[in-house]
Order: sequence, then structure tokens, then C-alpha cells
Amino acid sequence: MKSLIDKLVLKKDLPKGELKFLLENLNDEIKVYLIEKSDQVRRKAYGDKVFMRGLIEISSYCERNCMYCGIRKDNKNAQRYRLTEEDIIMCCDEGYRLGYRTFVLQGGEDGYFDDERVVRFIGAIKTKYPDTRVTLSLGEKTRASYESYFKAGADRYLLRHETASKKLYRKLHPDMSYENRVQCLYNLKDIGYQVGAGFMIGIPGQKTEDFINDLKFLKILEPHMIGIGPFIPHKDTAFRNFPHGSLEMTETLLAIIRIMLPDVLLPATTALGSIDGRGRERGLRAGANVVMPNLSPVEVREKYSLYDGKICTGDEAAHCRKCIEGRISSAGYKVDMDVGDNFLWRDRR
Ligand code: 5AD
Ligand code: FES
Repeated sequence: MKSLIDKLVLKKDLPKGELKFLLENLNDEIKVYLIEKSDQVRRKAYGDKVFMRGLIEISSYCERNCMYCGIRKDNKNAQRYRLTEEDIIMCCDEGYRLGYRTFVLQGGEDGYFDDERVVRFIGAIKTKYPDTRVTLSLGEKTRASYESYFKAGADRYLLRHETASKKLYRKLHPDMSYENRVQCLYNLKDIGYQVGAGFMIGIPGQKTEDFINDLKFLKILEPHMIGIGPFIPHKDTAFRNFPHGSLEMTETLLAIIRIMLPDVLLPATTALGSIDGRGRERGLRAGANVVMPNLSPVEVREKYSLYDGKICTGDEAAHCRKCIEGRISSAGYKVDMDVGDNFLWRDRR
């Protein structure tokens, strides 16, 4: 087993059969070894830095019906809200004051935020704060839309591929196309964004083979960022009675991803922090080097409910800023308030 991990470090990849063996036969001792290796790789790439991103959840309206998601269109119980441009700028003001230099604007696929509105708020942020990065996470759009946001000043785009197994993808997203999602990711890369893909761990119906497909897909796409976190059930979805994904498997996959793609920006996600009080610290130790505390107005936090039991919904941004800093240092790393670009992307420009 250890030689398999050494081979993974050396080749930054493994054949499917060996990945399967690794994922299915990892005992405690081997897992410690895997995480040790992952930490070495991350320190070589980014040292002990952990980058901070301020997350602003701009809309809980969504036109899609992802089976696992609490803000899916057909959820009549979901509380819907939209931030105005003024709200968004106020969140950025607060974030900037607290030292954030990346703003992540995330929302459901909401037609109200048409290209004109998106371009306008990107421009407003970049004019006021030219020394920041704007990351968008607004779902699938046309290539022309992505181009207009990029021209307006957007730097990065998060669009998790969700799963690289077509059959599972169709089950989870009855009204969507896997091919289109993948095309969106390649369009974003081609336009020049730093691109984030990713998937959930423990989604109902997911097997080891699906994780292997995800790892192989990521290795080919080579995104600059990868968001992974446990699936957590939401009471208003058909998956309400399924268990959440495991912390252990999330750690293992974070470590494998860090080793396979050493330069990737990898968040310890809010979902991971929501299933375990020390989840984010564990994620950082396994190879994550980004955290994304919430900058949304406290009044709307509860309403952006993708899953039950989300942390920080009652906490002011300043509180989260302090809290997360303590967690990062207790895990053995240092907060870095720089824009935190992917270094390979930066060096290639
Ligand atoms: N549990 C965990 N993560 C979820 N997401 C959506 N619903 C859930 C859930 N129930 C993730 C998806 C999406 C990201 C914004 O949040 O992967 O891409
Ligand atoms: Fe929000 Fe800890 S990060 S309370």
C-alpha cells in the first residue's frame, strides 16, 4: 500500500485499478501516510499558506432541480431572496475592511441576474476595489455570457462538475446535460478564467468507480481550483433520509487530489465544517489550502440553504474572520490575505 502511495506521488496519477484498491483498502496507518505525503506536496507548492475568500450568496432563486439541493426550483418551502447591487457592494466593503481580497459571488441559476446585471456588479466591484479578484459561481451560461463577464473583470469561475459518471449525473440532474456542463468548463478555461470544478462525497448512489471517474476527469481537465465536500441531506428533497458523506472519505480524496494536482487551490468547505466541529481543520491537514468564510448579510444566511445544518448562518463576517483564523493556526498553517492566484496559472501569463 505504501508503495502505491509513493507511486502516486511520483507519477501524480495511478491506473484506475490501483486507485480503486487504494480507496477501498485504506486503513488508519496507511491513511496517516497518505496525508503526510499530501502535506509535503502542499508545502512544496504553497508553503503553509491558507488563502481566504469572502463568499457572497447573491440569490437563492434557482431554475434548476438538482435532486440533492435545498434551493431547487420545485422546493416550495425554500425561502427566496436576491441581493441588490448595493447589498453586494456593502458586503464587499465589509469584506475589504476585514482584509479579504477575493470575493466569490455565488447564486442559484436565476434569470433575474441577466448578463447586464452581472456585468454591472462586476464592474462596480472592480472599479471600487481594483486590487481584488472576483470569482463567479452562477452556474451554466453561454460562452458569450462567460466572455462578457470576463471582459467586465471577473477572474475566476466555480462550476462543480458534480460527478463525472454520466449515468449518475443524469439521475441527480434530470433536466440537465452532462455534456453541456463539461463544455462550460472547457469554455471557461479557454476564455482565460481560473476555473474550479468539483464534486460531492457520499451522494446517494455513488460508488468507488464514480470517485475514480471524478479523479480521472479532474486530471484531464486540470482545473485551477477543486471544490469537494460531503453531501448533506436537505429536509425538502427526496434525499432527506440519506446519511451525509463521510469526513474520512473527504480527507482521503482531498489528499489524493492534492497529490495528483499539486498546484490546485483546494478549499476546506463549509459543508465539511458542517458535518464535524473540526472538519475544516481536518480538511486543511489533509491538503486543503483555501477557506471561504461567509460575507452574505446575516438576514439572508438561513435562506441560502443547500443542505441542513449549515454552520455560520448566525455569525457576523467579522466573527467568522477571527474564528477561521484561529482554526487555520490551530491546524498548523498561516492565513494569507493576498489574492491567492493559482501559481501555475499566474506563471503562464
Ligand atoms: N450537500 C452538500 N453540498 C451540496 N451542494 C448542493 N447541495 C448540496 C448538499 N445537499 C453543493 C453542490 C454545488 C455547490 C454550490 O454546493 O456541489 O455545486
Ligand atoms: Fe463562521 Fe467559525 S467561520 S463562526
